[in-house]
Amino acid sequence: MKHISIAYLLILFLVGAITFRLSAAPGNDECLNCHEALDGKVQTPAIAFKNDVHHAAGITCAGCHGGNSSVSDMEEGMDKKKGYTGIPSTKERYVLCVKCHAEKKAMQSFGYRGSTEQFEKLKSSVHFKNSYNDQGPIADCITCHGAHGILGAKNPQSRVHPTKIVQLCGNCHSDPSYMQKYNPGLPVDQVMKYRTSIHGVKNAKGDTRTAQCVSCHGNHEIYSVKDPRSAVYNLNIAKTCSHCHSDTVLMAQYNIPANQYKKYQKSVHGIALLEKGDAAAPSCNGCHGNHAAILPGAESVSKVCGTCHAFNMELFEQGPHKTAFNIKKIPECESCHGNHGIEPVTDEFLGTSSRSFCISCHQAGDNGYKTAAEMKQLLDTLTASKKNADQYLDIAERLGMDVTDEKYALKNMKQLLIKVRTSVHVASLGKFKEEIAPGFEIVKDAETHGRKSIENYYFRRKGLMVSTVIVSILVGLLYLKLKRIEKEDRA
Ligand code: HEC
Ligand code: HEC
Ligand code: HEC
Ligand code: HEC
Ligand code: HEC
Ligand code: HEC
Ligand code: HEC
Ligand code: HEC
Ligand code: HEC
Ligand code: HEC
Ligand code: HEC
Repeated sequence: MKHISIAYLLILFLVGAITFRLSAAPGNDECLNCHEALDGKVQTPAIAFKNDVHHAAGITCAGCHGGNSSVSDMEEGMDKKKGYTGIPSTKERYVLCVKCHAEKKAMQSFGYRGSTEQFEKLKSSVHFKNSYNDQGPIADCITCHGAHGILGAKNPQSRVHPTKIVQLCGNCHSDPSYMQKYNPGLPVDQVMKYRTSIHGVKNAKGDTRTAQCVSCHGNHEIYSVKDPRSAVYNLNIAKTCSHCHSDTVLMAQYNIPANQYKKYQKSVHGIALLEKGDAAAPSCNGCHGNHAAILPGAESVSKVCGTCHAFNMELFEQGPHKTAFNIKKIPECESCHGNHGIEPVTDEFLGTSSRSFCISCHQAGDNGYKTAAEMKQLLDTLTASKKNADQYLDIAERLGMDVTDEKYALKNMKQLLIKVRTSVHVASLGKFKEEIAPGFEIVKDAETHGRKSIENYYFRRKGLMVSTVIVSILVGLLYLKLKRIEKEDRA
């Protein structure tokens, strides 16, 4: 009997414990229980809420709307005196979320260890500006996450899951009449273009590792692309792309090298943009595009160089390489200069030394090789004779001769030399000689003038010496004559 009563008590205790556990666990939300059984607009939130991270964490309808969720009576539950606030206004509804999510202590009391900075970030973002119809911010927590049925970002059903984000952002950004109200100059083609890129194609197939809107722009901290805080501000883009593209483990899964950022950083473009702040130099998107055309094929990517280096492209297209490269499918600029690690140019890239670009395709004996050697020799001769002429002019100047015009002409040869070096792109000796010929003239003129000035100086000095001697002799004779007159006078 005793045993039975102990067993009975034990069972009672266990049942009690289970019941108690259940009351704390999701499900015992009287607001939900009643609303679930209603119809229409007041039922929908309850159905959605059953599949919500907050519900799973034991948070009830009252967690946001206030009121008493432990009573099954409507009046008592939805009592304003018990803190029931009803439906929040569109303007203020985000406050419901922020009262937990911006409070570290509140979040920790639920055992949440994630970030509590979403509001801080959103507040400063472009999306928290006031909406055109004065209905609160352009986008608030609810715009992106919803109000009921909120899921963690990793849940494939979540509105912010990587496979859903494109649609979320596109809701506004692909709607021209909506976007017009805010920023008529802003393109509305991002989603359309993105879908044509490798990133977009893979994303549409459910790949969560490639880039979508949020991986390049951030989520809560989205700024205008001209804002230095933006992840796609020109100085920040390379870093943003490199989060993935320098990740050797990730890139190995796609058989793609992970060295682009490392090379780019040290390239003439990387140094110009990142170190010298030259906004004309390309970041990754300068060559790959922003949303589309991420990798449209070797030939088209090379064409991109021509958008900035138009003259080089124009000259290149005049020469024999254009057709030859097209037929052999050799990328145009890239085959000589490379792509990510482009170096500042030197004359060594011409000619037949080990650093020459030309010898990677041309061999001793062929026309290209001969042309390369001859171009380099002409350029070397011109630079050497320019140095020579410079020295003559320097000496003449030190002797006080007027060589201003000639010095100026030599200094101005910088422009001419740029043209000469650019003309290499035609890959034609005739054209190259045509460009370099005026250089030899200028140098010759300068050298001749320098030499003549020096000669003149010495010639004049010689004349001065002769006249000094003559004058001295005359003075001497005069002195003697005076002495004699003096003597005669005394006598
Ligand atoms: C016994 C049923 C019942 C309970 C319990 C109950 N509600 Fe309701 N609730 C209703 C009904 C019915 C309506 C629609 C009629 C109305 O607006 O008065 C409603 C309406 C609402 C609305 C919409 C109000 C509006 O202005 O349109 C909200 C929000 C709401 N309930 C939240 C809650 C919350 C939060 C709780 C728990 C603290 C709760 N309800 C508890 C039955 C209930
Ligand atoms: C995480 C916070 C949160 C929780 C929890 C929550 N709500 Fe809401 N609810 C909101 C917000 C925010 C709105 C306003 C949405 C809007 O403006 O579109 C809202 C709106 C509503 C509306 C009006 C819907 C309409 O279409 O007009 C009802 C009814 C409602 N909630 C009921 C409930 C019920 C019932 C529960 C529990 C089952 C619940 N809510 C739990 C945040 C919440
Ligand atoms: C412009 C859309 C947008 C707005 C507005 C927005 N979020 Fe998010 N939020 C996201 C996206 C997208 C993610 C998923 C992040 C990811 O996958 O990297 C996210 C993730 C989160 C997470 C998960 C933890 C984290 O930080 O990644 C929380 C919590 C969160 N948001 C809360 C909020 C709150 C609170 C607000 C309002 C103050 C808010 N969000 C406003 C888009 C938004
Ligand atoms: C009563 C406090 C509270 C309120 C109010 C609240 N949340 Fe939460 N929220 C939490 C807690 C706690 C979690 C973590 C749940 C968990 O551990 O899974 C959470 C989780 C989330 C997550 C998923 C986070 C992740 O890491 O995946 C998102 C998104 C989110 N909330 C958005 C919102 C939005 C939007 C609102 C307003 C409509 C809101 N929350 C209102 C407490 C709250
Ligand atoms: C691979 C990275 C990347 C992805 C993915 C991406 N963007 Fe962009 N986005 C950029 C860059 C880079 C810029 C331009 C920066 C500049 O102009 O200097 C930009 C510019 C923008 C702009 C400003 C207007 C414009 O078109 O120049 C908007 C709006 C925008 N993106 C929205 C989106 C949306 C919406 C998505 C998702 C469909 C998306 N972006 C996906 C990198 C990306
Ligand atoms: C509710 C509509 C809405 C949603 C959703 C939305 N945006 Fe926006 N976004 C706007 C509006 C409106 C602007 C323009 C604000 C302005 O310039 O005054 C803007 C501006 C931007 C800009 C700055 C463009 C520039 O350079 O001026 C970027 C980038 C951007 N959004 C990206 C995103 C991304 C990424 C998402 C998805 C996570 C997203 N937006 C979701 C409405 C939205
Ligand atoms: C979230 C990670 C991520 C970000 C951020 C990202 N990418 Fe990618 N990208 C990938 C992945 C993964 C692939 C491989 C897709 C494939 O080949 O199937 C890829 C493919 C590419 C390719 C094509 C490579 C090839 O040979 O197929 C180019 C080019 C590219 N990305 C450029 C960029 C640029 C430029 C940026 C920055 C504006 C950027 N990516 C940002 C993940 C990313
Ligand atoms: C000066 C132009 C230029 C810049 C700047 C540039 N790329 Fe490229 N990128 C190219 C060209 C050209 C190719 C080769 C296309 C081909 O051969 O098919 C390429 C190829 C790629 C590939 C394919 C894999 C590979 O290495 O061949 C990826 C990924 C890539 N780039 C990412 C980036 C990233 C990330 C950045 C910024 C850190 C960047 N690119 C900067 C021109 C550029
Ligand atoms: C056949 C090899 C070759 C090809 C193809 C080539 N270049 Fe060059 N490029 C050179 C050489 C060699 C020099 C250096 C000339 C010197 O300094 O003596 C040079 C110099 C340059 C310079 C610096 C001099 C100047 O013109 O300002 C730029 C910029 C340049 N190339 C861009 C391009 C672009 C853009 C393309 C594609 C249209 C291209 N190159 C294609 C070989 C090539
Ligand atoms: C967005 C414009 C832009 C694009 C696209 C671009 N460049 Fe440049 N490039 C520049 C600027 C600006 C400089 C000058 C950097 C400096 O030295 O200050 C430069 C410098 C160079 C130089 C060095 C010139 C020298 O005098 O040393 C070479 C070579 C070059 N680019 C080749 C290329 C090639 C090849 C491509 C395509 C694969 C390309 N560029 C794409 C803007 C661009
Ligand atoms: C990527 C390979 C490649 C590089 C690098 C290259 N060439 Fe060529 N070149 C060709 C091809 C292919 C032809 C077409 C005729 C042939 O097959 O020889 C050609 C033709 C020529 C011709 C015309 C030959 C004739 O018979 O009429 C000249 C001149 C020439 N190249 C000069 C140069 C110079 C100078 C350089 C270095 C600045 C250079 N090439 C670098 C591939 C290259």
